Amino acid sequence: MNASNLTRPNMVVAVDGPSGSGKSSISKESANRLGFNFLDTGAMYRSVTWFCVTENLDDEDLIIERINNKDFKLYISTDPLKDQVKVNDEDVSKIIREDEITSRVSHFAAMPKIRQFLVSKQRELVQASNSGIIVEGRDIGSVVLPEADFKIFITANDDVRAKRRAIQIDSNENDVLVAQRKRDLLDSSRKVSPLVIPDGAVILDNSDLDFEQSVEKFIEIVSAE
Ligand code: DC
Repeated sequence: MNASNLTRPNMVVAVDGPSGSGKSSISKESANRLGFNFLDTGAMYRSVTWFCVTENLDDEDLIIERINNKDFKLYISTDPLKDQVKVNDEDVSKIIREDEITSRVSHFAAMPKIRQFLVSKQRELVQASNSGIIVEGRDIGSVVLPEADFKIFITANDDVRAKRRAIQIDSNENDVLVAQRKRDLLDSSRKVSPLVIPDGAVILDNSDLDFEQSVEKFIEIVSAE
């Protein structure tokens, strides 16, 4: 059975969840199998963070002034098979995943004006999508796309998430767990758009599921009438 036959055209799926829950890879693979577009909004916050770090900017008003004009041109691919992000034509796809950006992104992602700027870009990208789209982040079902056709909150317990991330980045599991708890706390306690389980979301807890089972579960959820 082809799952894409069961989904509506131009369906919008909002995916939220904590770091290390596998939400990005599960959403991306599900989008690929469904023939949908995919938007990684975390990469957008990382790109702004990279720009601020590179340009040595920390004042919110100054940042917004710079990113609102031609100084800052953000391109992000919505093709699930093409993981590409560019700032001012420079390919930043890899550098935005490095530790320095990872450790600083929560700080910039807590700035309301940066969020406002990126939320409107995210809505534009969804509007422009020529097919169904899966949008993944922390505030998608609650703030960016409260009218989404489906909302999925992907999570797994702390230890499982830390273990997966430690393997991924070849690091010590305990160090990862400490950093992860700090980031979770920042993301869920910030004043603007904290990470919450949005109203109406289906929870996909994949603590005991492997990747394939998680993708199957995801597709089952969005294929429901
Ligand atoms: O998913 P990620 O680790 O690439 O996200 C990077 C950071 O951006 C993380 O600190 C959470 C934040 N973020 C956010 O605040 N809102 C989103 N919609 C997506 C990510």
